[in-house]
Amino acid sequence: MRILSGIQPSGALHLGNYFGMMRPAIELQERGEAYYFIADYHSMTSLFDPAERRRNTLDVALDFLACGLDPKRAVFFKQSDVPEVCELTWMLGTLTPMGLLERCTSYKDKIAKGIPVNYGLFAYPVLMAADILIYDSNLVPVGQDQKQHVEVTRDIAIKFNEQYGQTFVIPEPQIREATAKVPGVDGEKMSKSYGNTIEIFGDEKTLRKKVMAIKMDSRTPAEPKPDADQNLAIQILKLVAPDAAKDFEDRLRVGGFGYGDLKKALFEDYWNYFSDARKKRAELVANLDYVHGILRDGAAKARAKAREVLQRARKASGLE
Ligand code: TRP
Repeated sequence: MRILSGIQPSGALHLGNYFGMMRPAIELQERGEAYYFIADYHSMTSLFDPAERRRNTLDVALDFLACGLDPKRAVFFKQSDVPEVCELTWMLGTLTPMGLLERCTSYKDKIAKGIPVNYGLFAYPVLMAADILIYDSNLVPVGQDQKQHVEVTRDIAIKFNEQYGQTFVIPEPQIREATAKVPGVDGEKMSKSYGNTIEIFGDEKTLRKKVMAIKMDSRTPAEPKPDADQNLAIQILKLVAPDAAKDFEDRLRVGGFGYGDLKKALFEDYWNYFSDARKKRAELVANLDYVHGILRDGAAKARAKAREVLQRARKASGLE
């Protein structure tokens, strides 16, 4: 079984990314042949600073490798190192009805918000379809927001197979469950666009400050808090130290335990949770040639597969 997913290089990863997407992806590498790539072509639809793209791309690579992506098990590469996907994007686009793309909610949302849209944003799902189909992917783990794009991929693949004969494997989406909804410091879903994130890696002082700024109510420490399970620090603590979370939840319920102490404890547990990953990341940063080598090897493997499938599509459609 081939499992494939793309990761947007959108800057430092936070706890929401880690528990929502990264950890499940890393766990999935045990279940099949995982292909994970950094979607730098896709990032061009909304990020226009070359240095930032380069930095974000490297950061995602470092973060994933530090957190346990095993390059011996998974094929890890940069999307743009396999330019064959662009040719396939063209071929698929010619069989994609305009209406299919016009119905995509991520595109419609951007229009509704008044964000100026470009052709790349409109064609985004077609590039994503090419990403998926070019590796004969069976399973595509994505967040709920990307489900529609995988459905578009299936529609396009079916259409191509009908038009030109059996060419593509029809992929299945695997939608990540909502357990992964990590609250941000303000209680909204943790998201970069809300500015409420706690990053996985970074400067200790800055991160401590973010943890200490998690929103609490104004009840005094002495007061019992029957709703302690709703407490934001408790909810985050549950992810990094479930036993401690239970203990502190009980103490809040009884009363006599202050939020300041709770947040200090949360910081320590969160900091320890990532201590191995932090060490690993520092080693990788000191050895960037190794990191670039992994991406290069991953791309070579991915590219061999992509060429094979592209050739099949070229033959089927009469380009050859
Ligand atoms: N669009 C996806 C996201 O924003 C990233 C992505 C690009 C992707 N190509 C893909 C995900 C192919 C799965 C399969 O998260």
